[in-house]
Amino acid sequence: MPQSPLLLKKISIARLAIIAAVVGVVAVAFAYTAGWLSSNRLTPKKLVASLAPPRGPALGHRRNHAKGICFTGTFEANGNGSELSKAQVFMPGQYPVVGRFNLATADPNAADAMVRVRGLGIRITPPNGQEWRSAMIDAPIFPVSTVQGFYDLQMASASKQPDAMKKVIAAHPEFLTFVSWAKSAPWTSSYAEERYNSLNSFLFIDGSGAKHTIRWSLIPAAQPVAISPDELAKRGPDFLEKEITQRVAAGPQRWSLMVTVANPGDPAADPSKAWPADRRTVNVGTLTVQQIEQEADGPCRDINYDPTVLPAGITTSDDPFPSARSAAYSRSYNSRTAEEKYYPRNATGAKQ
Ligand code: HEM
Repeated sequence: MPQSPLLLKKISIARLAIIAAVVGVVAVAFAYTAGWLSSNRLTPKKLVASLAPPRGPALGHRRNHAKGICFTGTFEANGNGSELSKAQVFMPGQYPVVGRFNLATADPNAADAMVRVRGLGIRITPPNGQEWRSAMIDAPIFPVSTVQGFYDLQMASASKQPDAMKKVIAAHPEFLTFVSWAKSAPWTSSYAEERYNSLNSFLFIDGSGAKHTIRWSLIPAAQPVAISPDELAKRGPDFLEKEITQRVAAGPQRWSLMVTVANPGDPAADPSKAWPADRRTVNVGTLTVQQIEQEADGPCRDINYDPTVLPAGITTSDDPFPSARSAAYSRSYNSRTAEEKYYPRNATGAKQ
């Protein structure tokens, strides 16, 4: 039946109004996701910006743990992990690894003796292609219990307000436990003598579908030798990279991958709290570092050690850190890979 021009006009206006409404809802959703609607919301952009030194980030480099060196090697699973997780990476076998030793600083030229926290990034690739990525640190606990607390801590340490740190410590007293570790724990002269901890908890899912709340640590085969930071400072700004290069050239370095299983009620969502020492641990295999390569043109340069890249058989838990880390690492990764001209691939070592 033919419709009158007036009716047709009314229908088109109604249609346009629906389209405008849909576009409006999408725009609001975008603005919300970007954090434009609430200035207090903690966004990946703010989190990453808070890590930058006062003169701005080192372009082309990771926005945190900026100084590092690549390695390749293997993870040899002994099969013990299959009781806790169905992931192929725990089935007996040897799987290739690309990793990175690093320092927790935003400055790729920091002197090694000045940085308290050392880290290790790892990507294990079993034949089914289901990678497991992880980034661990040598501290036994994280400085603060929440992502907001981590942001507040960065802002306070950069602030010129004399009581900024005092205020943050009052709000996050758990930070003092970290400070006492930082002051009292021995330093070593080698990445190979460090223990690296996931701190965040995850869920392992076994073949029956049962879930186990776990954390993991890499325990070094090398005996740690304590040495003072003053002694370390005398060895030059890049002694860690030189030492690990020589050490691995002389022979592969090994770590046992130990999985710790939580008891019900253990603080799984708070990486600033250690679990009691008597928790069950399972040795699931051995990491062997076989070759060191400079970061500038090495295989770890363009890897994002996002802790949420997990195989079937491992998932995130109610620990809120991994998803916040994932968003921040992605932002850092996107920035640094777009800034290649500031960090040429033929650069030597960590120098810009
Ligand atoms: C909300 C808390 C955290 C934020 C905002 C944060 C931020 C970052 C950023 C932006 C990077 C650089 C990523 C890249 O460009 O690829 C990074 C690297 C790293 N982070 Fe975190 N991080 C957090 C928590 C942690 C925790 C809990 C650990 C360890 C338990 C950790 C260990 C590391 C390590 C080892 C690296 C270097 C990885 C590599 O070699 O690429 N971070 N972090």
